[in-house]
Amino acid sequence: MSYKQQVAEKITAVLDTLGVEGFNQEKVESMLETPPNPAMGDIAFPCFQLAKALRKAPPQIAQELAEQIQGAPLREVKAMGPYVNAFLDQAIVAQQVVETILTQGNTYGSRNVGEGRKVPIDLSSPNIAKPFSMGHLRSTVIGNAIANIMEKHGYQPVRINHLGDWGTQFGKLIVAYKLWGDEAKVKAEPIKELLALYIRFHEEAEKDPSLEDQGREWFKKLEDGDEEAKHLWQWFRDESLKEFMKIYELMNVSFDSFNGEAFYNDKMDRVVALLEEKGLLTESEGAQVVSLEEYDMPPCLIKKSDGATLYATRDLAAALYRYENYEFAKAIYVVGNEQRLHFQQLYKVLEKMGYEWSKEMYHIPFGMMLKDGKKMSTRKGKVVLLEEVLSQAIADVQKVIEEKNPTLENKEEVARQVGVGAVIFHDLKNYRLNDINFSWEEMLTFEGETGPYVQYTHARACSLLRKGEYAGGNVAWAEGALDSKEAWAVITLLNHFPEVIDRAREEFDPSQIGKYVIDLAQSFNKFYANVRILAEEPELKQARLHLVAAVVVVLKEGLRLLGLKAPEEM
Ligand code: ARG
Repeated sequence: MSYKQQVAEKITAVLDTLGVEGFNQEKVESMLETPPNPAMGDIAFPCFQLAKALRKAPPQIAQELAEQIQGAPLREVKAMGPYVNAFLDQAIVAQQVVETILTQGNTYGSRNVGEGRKVPIDLSSPNIAKPFSMGHLRSTVIGNAIANIMEKHGYQPVRINHLGDWGTQFGKLIVAYKLWGDEAKVKAEPIKELLALYIRFHEEAEKDPSLEDQGREWFKKLEDGDEEAKHLWQWFRDESLKEFMKIYELMNVSFDSFNGEAFYNDKMDRVVALLEEKGLLTESEGAQVVSLEEYDMPPCLIKKSDGATLYATRDLAAALYRYENYEFAKAIYVVGNEQRLHFQQLYKVLEKMGYEWSKEMYHIPFGMMLKDGKKMSTRKGKVVLLEEVLSQAIADVQKVIEEKNPTLENKEEVARQVGVGAVIFHDLKNYRLNDINFSWEEMLTFEGETGPYVQYTHARACSLLRKGEYAGGNVAWAEGALDSKEAWAVITLLNHFPEVIDRAREEFDPSQIGKYVIDLAQSFNKFYANVRILAEEPELKQARLHLVAAVVVVLKEGLRLLGLKAPEEM
């Protein structure tokens, strides 16, 4: 139990004896505040809401409650105006917090809210034969962290890479390849070459519009299962995926499913039939649509006039498939903000179809990656491969290591963990809806609010444990060993970790954890700078190393939830 919970429990017990109703422990806990300055106490309980039930003025209530609330971990309780202010016995709290963390290890902060229920998370989802964009990077990083956080709370995440591997563009690509393609070139640099073919198709189609018809024909063939079309499509997909896998491997992200849009090709007739049955389809300019007028939204396009299905149709089929296969507790879609309307429409159509579970579908939007104030996109024909961003980050870190710690073992592995960590953290320390300014300096410095800074702090703490020959053991320590405001700041933060994960899960917001690990790292570094951790007296040293060990556990787990490794030396 956190000290907040313990205090709430005490207050609730007193309220019970007074016969006050409607104030259970959870409610009391949510009412607890932190006084504006530590001289006023560590926790404050406001009494305004009790005035009615007790028919007394809040200051009087505070006075009476203060007399009755006592016992560890409280040192002193007093009324201050309408508040009950409590002072914690810091030595007791310190011991409780550190002991809890050291016995629970990386399960500290775990909960079983999810009870093993499945949560499909649609993440990454790049498009075949197109470059992996910054948007896909954000989706990968945010989605992976959300999956880790859900898992920490007892859900079973199902990471789904809903590849963009279907649509008329594949008909065009087949035509382009048959006309101008070169197998060896595609094999050597698949994304670059396929993109070039796609661009050439559009250029040539301006002169020769019949190409467009050929493209449509070939897509039709593909939909109908034509061997040659299928073969080429499969090859484009395999080659592209090979390329994407390099990025995923570097980033240490894996998926439970690569069922992309194509997977739903044979599942769409059913969707159309269901919509028809429920009387939801109407015709609009030759196309089949579901009207969403009552929600002030444009209609959702289901089938084009030529009979071809669309992105939305495939997402409807995917939603049904996910519900039927996973009986999900929630379904999450981590996709850029520009697709907000698409997902609103999707959920509304499912609601109109009568599916209660559509209420448990969440679009988790995010902002753009900007460079010099402009959207960082893949310029026409000139591909800024994300792989290059990652390898550049790794190379930069490698240089720093060569300079500062040339004898480090497994230098390459560490450089990879820190370089990739820098890229991930640069994203996750920001609230996802904010646009991010891509900056090498900001991303890679070991001193700012960065991944390398947090990782470095973790490694530093590990090295202290090595130097102090820390061997764990009994968490009982000398009076006063952790009596410093620096130690106390670290302890209160450690105590908050579980609440931070709660909020990150409830709000699908990994940045809560990103900001938290920065705070903890900063606070630990102050402790390190001001308190002699490896003290002469063995008892003091032992107690302080226990605290360091607890910091190591929490930093490492916080980083893990975000998708970063925590090397022990760097
Ligand atoms: N491939 C799409 C794109 O790059 C994203 C897919 C998102 N997921 C989904 N179920 N629609 O824009």
